[in-house]
Amino acid sequence: MVLDSSFESITLRQPDDWHLHLRDGAVLAAVVGMTSRVFRRAIVMPNLSPPIKSVDAARTYRQRILDVVPKGDAFSPLMTAYLTDDLSPDELELGQREGVFTAAKLYPANSTTNSTEGVTDIRAIDSVLETMESIGLPLLVHGEVADPDVDIFDREAVFIDRYLIPLLNRFPELRVVLEHITTEQAVQFVESSLSPLAATITPHHLQINRNAMFAGGLRSDFYCLPVAKRERHRIALRRAATSGKPCFFLGTDSAPHVRGAKQSTCGCAGIFNAPCAIESYAEVFEEEGALQRLEAFASEFGPSFYGLPLNEKKITLKRNDCVVPSLIEVQNTDKCFEHILPYHSGETLRWSLCEDV
Ligand code: DOR
Ligand code: ZN
Repeated sequence: MVLDSSFESITLRQPDDWHLHLRDGAVLAAVVGMTSRVFRRAIVMPNLSPPIKSVDAARTYRQRILDVVPKGDAFSPLMTAYLTDDLSPDELELGQREGVFTAAKLYPANSTTNSTEGVTDIRAIDSVLETMESIGLPLLVHGEVADPDVDIFDREAVFIDRYLIPLLNRFPELRVVLEHITTEQAVQFVESSLSPLAATITPHHLQINRNAMFAGGLRSDFYCLPVAKRERHRIALRRAATSGKPCFFLGTDSAPHVRGAKQSTCGCAGIFNAPCAIESYAEVFEEEGALQRLEAFASEFGPSFYGLPLNEKKITLKRNDCVVPSLIEVQNTDKCFEHILPYHSGETLRWSLCEDV
């Protein structure tokens, strides 16, 4: 990585996004270029409606993504399988052998968006986890209990105690990513674990705490799952991301929802940060005096966890103001327009991406 002496530009190996929602149809077409302008690869979440539960579904979804990647962008979607109570281990094995599945995603049933078909009893999928452990297919975990009796701000910490620790004990060789961590408990657990365990960290959990959802009124645009926590957790996440520890790497959890879906009486969880993700991470690393560790977090620790090659190409970020679009337009088949409000909508950020070098 090259950081110029006056900290005016950073050239780094092209990053990957290890946790991304692209959706399908008109939304997919509207958003994919915002990721492919920056990232070479992305782990694509399978929580479509219906979810991606078979090799065929993942293969055709991958093709639909590739069909709408802007010309000139080299972008590889890495597909994931959505675990259910009865997904067969053979399907995962087939998907890995055929180069379709890079990982499988565990959503505890009813824990988040499109998780109703998720896993109701984690112990009941032990045969699947055993196969994944033996074939080296990583398990990606939405680490929250869905138990309505558990306070929403405690659901990640309770998940670690109730389910993750026993799971790692049962499958000591299973490669596991605890996705989009939000608490100091998760940070401490991941950094001290002896298991092949890593965690992704989003830009928004590095920048906002739970006050953002209630600043001057109810702000559904800052509602995501796991929800942002108290300030002390945000500080712990910033330390983790900028620590240079390989168990923490970039995953944006960019999750587009059209305005109507965010602002309904039961608004969807998700923050759409693709238009400004790398720029937001750069701000955080700069504020923490850790720009020299951005490349490892964004471009090295993820591939090394997944056993994939590092990207060859470089990108350059310059200290030039960049204005985040106010709204992203989505054109439906009936020619109606809907809109997605991006994270940092209309704001000016300090770093901007410039052309390849
Ligand atoms: O905020 C979130 N949005 N968290 C998730 O776990 C799912 C995601 C989505 O699919 O919108
Ligand atoms: Zn997600």
